[in-house]
Amino acid sequence: MSRNKGMFISIEGGEGTGKTTQIGMLAESLRKQGHDVVTTREPGGTPEAEKIRELLVHRNGGDWTPMAEILLFFAARQMHVTQLIMPALTAGKIVISDRFTDSTRVYQSYGHGVEPDIIESFVHLALGGFEPDMTFILDIAVDKGLARAGRRQNETDIKEDRFEKIGMAFHEKLRQGFFAIAERFPERCVMIDADRTINEIANEMQMIALRRLQNV
Ligand SMILES: Nc1ncnc2c1ncn2[C@@H]1O[C@H](COP(=O)(O)OP(=O)(O)O)[C@@H](O)[C@H]1O
Ligand SMILES: [Mg+2]
Repeated sequence: MSRNKGMFISIEGGEGTGKTTQIGMLAESLRKQGHDVVTTREPGGTPEAEKIRELLVHRNGGDWTPMAEILLFFAARQMHVTQLIMPALTAGKIVISDRFTDSTRVYQSYGHGVEPDIIESFVHLALGGFEPDMTFILDIAVDKGLARAGRRQNETDIKEDRFEKIGMAFHEKLRQGFFAIAERFPERCVMIDADRTINEIANEMQMIALRRLQNV
């Protein structure tokens, strides 16, 4: 898949880092600068991909093996890219997605231990190697992010405390995974310190995105 117009931006990061908050602010600020902006999300973004989202994110969506889960993510992503993202880019629009392939790399590989090459094979097979033009990775300490997301467990309950620790260790792996992604794809990825006010973060992201747009 190739193209020569538009710009595809993904927003990545753990739970409660502010992805959904910032995507709206970035879209609004770029629109004010006269850009045509489409916002979307993963898994999902198109009617069929949203059906697959149900299977992946709902508690009763299914008990998938890690491989089946990856296939579902890429089935959704393939339709998302061909039916929504590429047509919008070809029309010269800016597309901003709340999560993209880096989330699969981080959750399925750094989190659940799937061989990284397997994921790269699917990027190649399903997407023809398609990647965002730029990726913002929002970063904040795991406990702060989870607190923001309203996921902090009750510290007085021993069982819940144990669960929280397991959860925290997994989320810490994800955070390290995002650091590794930023190192692996330095030209595409920009780490953003998300432990600041919403406006401070939005201003920095807007500035960086506008600078990139001038250089396209
Ligand atoms: N910079 C920030 N400072 C404080 N609270 C924030 C900040 N960014 C987002 N929030 C709040 O934290 C919660 C999670 O933000 P959200 O954008 O939904 O994160 P994500 O989509 O990454 O999980 C929301 O209630 C949001 O209003
Ligand atoms: Mg969100």
